[in-house]
Amino acid sequence: MSLISKIRCAFTLGQGLLIENKTLTGSDDPISFFKQWLNEAEQSGIILPESMSVSTCTGAGRPSSRMVLLKEVDQKGFVFFTNYGSHKAIELEENPYAALLFHWNMLQRQVRIEGRVERISQEESNTYFQTRGRGSRIGAWASHQSEELVDREKLVERVKYFEAKFAGQEVPLPEFWGGYRVIPERIEFWQGKADRLHDRFVYQPAKNGWQVKRLNP
Ligand SMILES: Cc1cc2nc3c(=O)[nH]c(=O)nc-3n(C[C@H](O)[C@H](O)[C@H](O)COP(=O)(O)O)c2cc1C
Repeated sequence: MSLISKIRCAFTLGQGLLIENKTLTGSDDPISFFKQWLNEAEQSGIILPESMSVSTCTGAGRPSSRMVLLKEVDQKGFVFFTNYGSHKAIELEENPYAALLFHWNMLQRQVRIEGRVERISQEESNTYFQTRGRGSRIGAWASHQSEELVDREKLVERVKYFEAKFAGQEVPLPEFWGGYRVIPERIEFWQGKADRLHDRFVYQPAKNGWQVKRLNP
């Protein structure tokens, strides 16, 4: 571990005390707390701190995981974008629950989120889609995500096809592409501390806001 990483880790371990004071008041909002941690991960120089693992399950309960990028987070939940015909999307049709996982190694922090998943509206998806670069928008049209691709050349051909099709105009939102929102039913913050006596705080929705509990490490 480099000296700078050691200093960052030491700083983070000290911050565990702050978390204790903060969350044990019980009045805290885990969404603001999550945003604060994401912000601190960004500040620490971690590459793609918004990348997260998403686990889904088939109807028969067989799990699968992959990384995606968190694009929005607010009181309604955690949003990512993907192809609605992909493997994960098929699993979400069968079983509309997911688990999200963030790990910010340098800060010795982990956040786990579990909840029901819903598609966001087409309008919301379109708003985000139009912020993407033209190449990514064409790519969304060209990729039949998770289906077999016998030859990469076929993908390149499809890219050319859609470039020609949408030449001189905005690339519209494909109907098979958009966002999912994970509506949290459980959010756990984990802060690494000395001697593996880590801090864990779990938030669950309650009548008026959130209930928070400390867990054994
Ligand atoms: C860091 C990282 C970020 C990714 N972000 C996304 C994303 O936001 N949306 C997406 O559909 N796939 C993303 N991918 C690709 C997915 O991991 C995965 O390969 C793809 O979504 C197909 O997964 P599926 O076959 O399980 O549906 C990302 C991969 C990595 C490594």
